[in-house]
Amino acid sequence: MSGYRIPFNKPGLTGNELAYISAAVAHGHLSGDGEFTRKCHAFFETEVGVGRALLTTSCTHALEMAALLLDISPGDEVIVPSFTFVSTVNAFVLRGAQPKFIDVRPDTLNLDESRLEGLISPRTRAIVPVHYAGVGCEMDAIMEIASRHGVPVVEDNAHGLFGKYRGKYLGTFGCMATQSFHETKNVTCGEGGALFINDLRYVERAEIIREKGTNRSQFIRGQVDKYTWVDVGSSYLPSELLAAFLCAQLEVWQEIQARRRRIWERYQEALADWARENAVLRPAVPADREQAYHMFYLVTPSLAWRQALIAHFKQRQILAVFHYLPLHLSPMGKRFGGKQGDCPVTENLSERLLRLPVYNDLREQDQARVIEAALEFRG
Ligand SMILES: Cc1ncc(COP(=O)(O)O)c(C=O)c1O
Repeated sequence: MSGYRIPFNKPGLTGNELAYISAAVAHGHLSGDGEFTRKCHAFFETEVGVGRALLTTSCTHALEMAALLLDISPGDEVIVPSFTFVSTVNAFVLRGAQPKFIDVRPDTLNLDESRLEGLISPRTRAIVPVHYAGVGCEMDAIMEIASRHGVPVVEDNAHGLFGKYRGKYLGTFGCMATQSFHETKNVTCGEGGALFINDLRYVERAEIIREKGTNRSQFIRGQVDKYTWVDVGSSYLPSELLAAFLCAQLEVWQEIQARRRRIWERYQEALADWARENAVLRPAVPADREQAYHMFYLVTPSLAWRQALIAHFKQRQILAVFHYLPLHLSPMGKRFGGKQGDCPVTENLSERLLRLPVYNDLREQDQARVIEAALEFRG
């Protein structure tokens, strides 16, 4: 990414990635669901405590699987934050759902649970909280409202692997949760994802949907003597080459998290006075949450201020970037009835937010340059 002296993101090797890829090649099993995939699944099930983990080709595809598993059909409604990546909503729209965009809280930029009940209707079939920047949503309130209305919760945990809400890992609250291992994420295999299934009733069908609508997984386990087409599905399982890469990263997850934590805390501390003096907001992490250290963002006083700060970084060969544009105001969002003023917090904050470089191999002296550049800037 970029040609900048300090890029926004840089995927890094942690040690065994290439050796494990060679091993996968030597095993002669390059398609999905081999030994490395099984190791990754076991990691999520034992370390994170999810009911069942299935690697997928992306978080987008894990979300598509969730929509299929929930039998989302035309006319169903799905509640999603406007402040998120397109896939959070697109996966459900693909099945014919009508999105209901919910605004976010100004402190964590997570779905505002106080607006949830007002958006639930008899047609609501899913609520999809996004743990923005890896800081957990208000899961107690969300789960209570969802269960009172009998609506399933699918956590989009693309940012939140290893984050916790009240001592429990993100990704273990909803009936399902989705992960991303895209190269911008804390642990990566380039492009990849996972579906976490906490309500085990979905497991059997998830295996089928992931294997092109066939019962091939049961066949491989010897549970059926031939495999055939039994349901809808697609090709959602990644190659062993990707699983091998991911496996190497997962083995050193604590080291990765420790590095990112150091980077994140250094920004938070070094920019504190400057932020206060310039009315810039830094990320809020409520006391009952352990965050995933996925990203460090600033909310500047205005759009003009943010654009000037991005340009200031650019002059110093540093790439700082903004983030999501409000989905309800996108061309697709407008086709679903979205209009200015529907999600005022999202509309306001998305114009003012920018993200600073955070990646596992960000060198101390490079981070010092980013900090120095910010401290020079006065709007
Ligand atoms: C909140 C959120 N959900 C889903 C995705 C899609 O992830 P992937 O690229 O693995 O499909 C992203 C991408 O970064 C994201 O930010």
